[in-house]
Amino acid sequence: MKHLLATDGLDPALATAVLDTAEELKHTLLGREVRKLPTLRGRTVITLFYENSTRTRVSFEIAGKWMSADVINVSASSSSVNKGESLRDTALTLAAAGADCVIIRHPASGAAQRLSGWLAEAGTAVVNAGDGTHEHPTQALLDAATLRERLGSFEGRRIGIVGDVLHSRVARSNIHLLSSLGAEVVLVAPPTLLPAGVESLPVTVSHELDAELPALDAVMMLRVQAERMTAGGPGQSFFPSAREYSIAYGLNERRMKLLPEHAVVLHPGPMLRGMEIASAVADSPASAITEQVRNGVHVRMAVLYHLLASEGAAA
Ligand code: CP
Repeated sequence: MKHLLATDGLDPALATAVLDTAEELKHTLLGREVRKLPTLRGRTVITLFYENSTRTRVSFEIAGKWMSADVINVSASSSSVNKGESLRDTALTLAAAGADCVIIRHPASGAAQRLSGWLAEAGTAVVNAGDGTHEHPTQALLDAATLRERLGSFEGRRIGIVGDVLHSRVARSNIHLLSSLGAEVVLVAPPTLLPAGVESLPVTVSHELDAELPALDAVMMLRVQAERMTAGGPGQSFFPSAREYSIAYGLNERRMKLLPEHAVVLHPGPMLRGMEIASAVADSPASAITEQVRNGVHVRMAVLYHLLASEGAAA
């Protein structure tokens, strides 16, 4: 693997290899007092974040450190980006300084792809840690790892993705990854929070959450991305109040009783408790939300391994 930019077009065999590596790493490190492997000693990993993050940035940093890489965090607000430096010049600067891998989060869809073009000559690997409303591939991989752990397999499983699909890079990455691994994906959202061209995606669409819940093996609640809803823009017309959203699409205790007993509840975080998901549901045994975060470290270790250390790295 040379870069990880998207799950759209990602070979399902390669995705499965990443999940297998993550599972192996998790078992290797389980119960160890010192969680440090020598695999990436001497390699330099830089996180370059133009948007806020807790889970993704921290878990990439931990993943790199647990594999003995040198990890450096650059946030746009405290770098020369603040003085007007372009993304291209920033990327070339990081490569010249010795980055083997740049992990980027950026508000513009396509930013990671552009970066990979600029860094091709330097041979620096690029990981997309979320680009606008486009993709967040490591989130989908950690979601898949969590689902595989809980459900055993993807074949014939029905996964509901609920809420603000329009603005969600998490939804887009999960749609492509989960369907390529054999699951059936159902989007549950109001028409105004679905993207144009949804008919061309490998999904079925519903607007009625109660009707879908009894047939789901897992339900993934999405964050409502108010920061991407501009006045009069797409999605805004549906969003008069948190209360209305919660009544129509929130996962509350009543709705949770409609799910099969084995069903798994996911949320990529950060979650708006009481609106997207009730606390009683988020903290219930059916919820795998904490496990998603835990698996995020192992999945990101696996991604770094396949990019920088495996036989297929930079192939
Ligand atoms: N799920 C996710 O991307 O969370 P952060 O924004 O905290 O990284």
